Amino acid sequence: MTEHIQYDATRQVLVLLDQRKLPCHEEWFDCRTTEELIYALQTMVVRGAPAIGVTAAYGCHLIALEVAKETGSSGNWRQTLRDRLHLLKNARPTAVNLAWAVDRSVAAWDAQADLELAPLAALWLEMAIALHAEDLACCKSIGRFGGALLQDGDTVMTHCNAGALATAGYGTALGVIRGAIDQGKAIKVIANETRPFLQGARLTAWELHRDGIPVTIACDNACGLLMRRGMVDAVVVGADRIAANGDAVNKIGTYGVAVLAKQHGIPFYVAAPLSTIDRATPTGDHVPIEDRTPREVTHVGDVQICPDGVPVFNYAFDPTPAELIAGIVTERGVLTAPYADSITRVFAEAARD
Ligand code: MRU
Repeated sequence: MTEHIQYDATRQVLVLLDQRKLPCHEEWFDCRTTEELIYALQTMVVRGAPAIGVTAAYGCHLIALEVAKETGSSGNWRQTLRDRLHLLKNARPTAVNLAWAVDRSVAAWDAQADLELAPLAALWLEMAIALHAEDLACCKSIGRFGGALLQDGDTVMTHCNAGALATAGYGTALGVIRGAIDQGKAIKVIANETRPFLQGARLTAWELHRDGIPVTIACDNACGLLMRRGMVDAVVVGADRIAANGDAVNKIGTYGVAVLAKQHGIPFYVAAPLSTIDRATPTGDHVPIEDRTPREVTHVGDVQICPDGVPVFNYAFDPTPAELIAGIVTERGVLTAPYADSITRVFAEAARD
């Protein structure tokens, strides 16, 4: 797939494949300013936890350039920059990769606090390019570890889009599927459509179909029937934030899929890089859940499907309790219960290397 996040160094623009327009149109969206970056994140031109993190890393660089233009690198540019980074960090609340990427840039700045604006912008570009490559490598590694969990001939259900489009490339949940295929296994995919933004029907189906991976779209509410009929061998999903106890917060509806998987004895796996694990958040119930515009529920495209004046719930994510998760596939291997221990261990190991 063409890289969907591209930095154009000549024009100093972050160019994003506009995921709102898929699968019917391939259009690109240019980000230069704080306002454009926040707009792209909030309207989901770019979405998916790791992709949001990569975008935010380039965003820090672009915001530094913007502040340089506005202030001429003089006056109180440091405060202006901090204020804009704060806005970027809070553009969406649930996926921890956004805050994580901005905090990483800020930590590098704090370590060299007397850096002037131009070298700071250059440092952040270098860091963003490195993070972009790192995320792709993490996905490939998740694919190798996770691919080994699947059997030749398996049909795998996934919810939302945790694919190339949601990461730097290759994907986390879809990375596991790609990993199994790279290991020579025949894998079929059921993509839950994922109301209301339809990341499954629009994005997962689009990228798998383009790659020649057999995919069938199912309505979200067909999940129970498909499992009851023995049509699902495993479930693999991504995550926006994994709490210290292993609870995994992912796209709304994931929790229901996990409960149904438990009822039918189907293994339910979560695939995510360590950057998605937030040890400062004790459980999934402590994760802020994004509450999005009712319009996503009341309309499909421009067509209204709900009566005027009726209130709507549009919570975008839900926590799946750790006890429903058979394994968390990371770039450092598959974590198993008790997750509080395996998460502590994997971070200690990462800190040593
Ligand atoms: O609202 P979105 O589309 O950003 O939500 C995305 C998801 O829930 C993904 O499953 C998650 O970010 C994992 S992406 C590898």
